[in-house]
Amino acid sequence: METFKRLIRYSKPYWWRIVISMVASFGVGGTDAAVAYLVEPLMKRIFAEKNIVIFMILPVAILVLFLFRGVCRFLQDYFIRTAGQLAIQDIRNEVYQRTMGLSIRFFHRNPTGALMSRIVNDVGQMQDGVANVVTGLLRDGVTAVGLLGIIFYRNWKLAVISLVVIPITAVPAQKIGKRIKSLSKQSLGRMGEITSILQETFSGIKVIKAFGLADRKVGEFRATNRSFYQFIRKTYKYDALNAPIMEVIMAFGIAAVIWFGGKEVLSGRMTAEAFFSFVVAMGMLYSPIKKLLNAYSSVQKALGAAERVFEVIDERPDITDPAEPVTLGRARGEVELRNVTFSYEDECVLRSVTLTARKGEVVALVGPSGAGKTTVMSLIPRFYDVTEGAVLIDGIDVRSLRVDDLMAQIALVDQETILFNGTIAENIRYGKSNATDAEVEAAARAAFAHDFILEMPEGYATPIGDRGVRLSGGQRQRLCIARAILKDAPVLLLDEATSALDTESEHMVQQALNNLMANRTTFVIAHRLSTILHADRIVVMDKGEIVEVGTNDELLAAGGLYRKLYDMQFSQGEAVR
Ligand SMILES: Nc1ncnc2c1ncn2[C@@H]1O[C@H](COP(=O)(O)OP(=O)(O)O)[C@@H](O)[C@H]1O
Ligand SMILES: [Mg+2]
Repeated sequence: METFKRLIRYSKPYWWRIVISMVASFGVGGTDAAVAYLVEPLMKRIFAEKNIVIFMILPVAILVLFLFRGVCRFLQDYFIRTAGQLAIQDIRNEVYQRTMGLSIRFFHRNPTGALMSRIVNDVGQMQDGVANVVTGLLRDGVTAVGLLGIIFYRNWKLAVISLVVIPITAVPAQKIGKRIKSLSKQSLGRMGEITSILQETFSGIKVIKAFGLADRKVGEFRATNRSFYQFIRKTYKYDALNAPIMEVIMAFGIAAVIWFGGKEVLSGRMTAEAFFSFVVAMGMLYSPIKKLLNAYSSVQKALGAAERVFEVIDERPDITDPAEPVTLGRARGEVELRNVTFSYEDECVLRSVTLTARKGEVVALVGPSGAGKTTVMSLIPRFYDVTEGAVLIDGIDVRSLRVDDLMAQIALVDQETILFNGTIAENIRYGKSNATDAEVEAAARAAFAHDFILEMPEGYATPIGDRGVRLSGGQRQRLCIARAILKDAPVLLLDEATSALDTESEHMVQQALNNLMANRTTFVIAHRLSTILHADRIVVMDKGEIVEVGTNDELLAAGGLYRKLYDMQFSQGEAVR
């Protein structure tokens, strides 16, 4: 019921569409009732009294009546459907917006494909349900009320007899509805798995081909599809059971009416015409009632979907603005991790990490993979919050800043060179939305991207991303750097920004990075130690702890883990080069 009320609340802004549709429903219901009512006078006047005038008027009246009904029906359908669609659109927008505000942790827990499925399939299912229900309630509800009026008017005792069966139909309808709701939820979960597989497959298509995984993936896909079918099959079964059960129960009502009504007619207490009008109204009445009961099952499906959608809407971000944020303009760029302990789940990933970077310093994080380097970086922009200790910028705990203010202090370049559909200029401008063309170009020059951009077919206006030209890894990386340069944030995080590149692009990118790093406090994780030899400070991490700190020379002299990593890499490196 809660979910239902919530669903209804979304249609509030579109109340006038609903009102138009409702008024039109009265038109439709009214004509239906009128038709049923008219059976009696028609039969009496035309066939009993042989009234020629009525006979002449009748065909015209029928046409007019149905024309009127047609217009009403159009208005009713059109306005209720658009209202439903608008409400659903709001829900879809809200889910999208809400997910955007959720923390990285949420996105790690929920596969991309499954999230997409919630926004596409689940919301779609809600839409079907809502449209069915509202049109159903309006059209069939109003029609039913009108027809009820007629049968009570004709013969109230007979009406009562014909209706005693209706409450009985509610019992199976409710049982079936409950099953359908839970099955619908489960089938949507399976649909989420299907989308997940699709998403994974299409983004990993190269690996699938190279490792000959196609058959295996097809098998997995078939199995998931099959398991979706298992659930949807049950939904269909209950859906299909609904109608026959109702009809059989209603047959009792019809039988009773014929029995009792026939006796009334035979004994002369009711005219045959009135009886016919009654039976026509009753026959017409069962159809909207059946549809209402059917609508009930599609409400259940919609509710199942709505519960899943509201789950996402209700998800509270664990990274939020503080109640009383400290204001910070442009930070100087001092970053400090003070006794930081952190775990993603239960396992401790960082233990008592303390480290400071003064304004403009370059701090390099090195260590074996899994040491916690990326984790350290992700604590600074609050992708995650520390478990214990604190992260400070200019001496202010990052948790006491507004998230937007914090993000304004930080530029990030990592291995994943994310570019969006749009032109090159647009992609660079993501760094600063109001940047002038000159600023964009200056950033591109500093990122050593200007030259290759000019060689593109349309220069800065060349479309890139999924639907545009393909760029090399180094070119993509330099665009990401240009974007970061344009953002001009005091703190810079570079996570293995050059590790995916060949030596030549690496050289270019490294020069671009040097421009980016100038006058910024920089944290850099580099797989290749050659890129960090000149860092002000090298922090060596192992198993979530800082094991050594110093400059390249100091650490080499100390002969610890850094020395080991260094020797390993440079002996190998020389062998290769
Ligand atoms: N999103 C995550 N959820 C759970 N554990 C994670 C997550 N990301 C990283 N880890 C774990 O945290 C540890 C440190 O990882 P990471 O900081 O990525 O190391 P590095 O960057 O030094 O290679 C690893 O043991 C890794 O398995
Ligand atoms: Mg890493």
